[in-house]
Amino acid sequence: MILCIDSADIQAIRRLYETYPVDGVSTNPSILAKAGRPPYEVLKEIRSLIGPEGELFVQAVSPDAEGMVREARRITAELGDTTLVKIPCVPEGFKAMKLLKQEGIRFIGTAIYTAMQGFIAAKCGADYVAPYVNRIDNMGFDGVQVAMDLHDAIQAADLPCELLAASFKNSQQVLELTRYGVGGMTLAPDIFDALTRNAAIDAAVEAFTADFRGLAGEGKTMADC
Ligand code: G3P
Repeated sequence: MILCIDSADIQAIRRLYETYPVDGVSTNPSILAKAGRPPYEVLKEIRSLIGPEGELFVQAVSPDAEGMVREARRITAELGDTTLVKIPCVPEGFKAMKLLKQEGIRFIGTAIYTAMQGFIAAKCGADYVAPYVNRIDNMGFDGVQVAMDLHDAIQAADLPCELLAASFKNSQQVLELTRYGVGGMTLAPDIFDALTRNAAIDAAVEAFTADFRGLAGEGKTMADC
């Protein structure tokens, strides 16, 4: 399973890459807008930070298939041909996906709110599909269940496509899809941190440190006591 960071915040990406087993970075137009810098400037910085082997996801914004294909060519020319182009799962997007498949450009179906929307993208040859878990929850449906249904449908049809589930707001959503064995997830930095950090963990580690300080002296460790 791959784990990606859903952000264009360079400092956060650097910190998370140094700490966790991260496989890539995903962005979307809203995330780039939040970074507030020229898109290719920040994306090239991300690419050089994560290296050529890191998965990088960049979204096309054209309303028509021809425009999306033009964007995909520029995105891969600027950022490396392993870069995955995010294509919204709308009718023009599906048209674009079929053309991108013929050109051998990697892509991910995005803006997925229903399992069948994602399944059609997988049928078009998507490398990944991105169901929006929390946004589906916010609509009064079950985002985790939609992601599981999509995972099952792709597996049942034996399509060479994986999930990159997106839009998480809590650790429980992440845990449920991890247990289910989906292909990947992309998490905002605060959700990434929340997976392994809480007050109980900090208190336990501090208690161990204090006990050892009492035993061996201030600043001593197992390396020098
Ligand atoms: O790229 C899709 C994902 O970023 C959506 O997440 O948190 O805006 O619902 P969110």
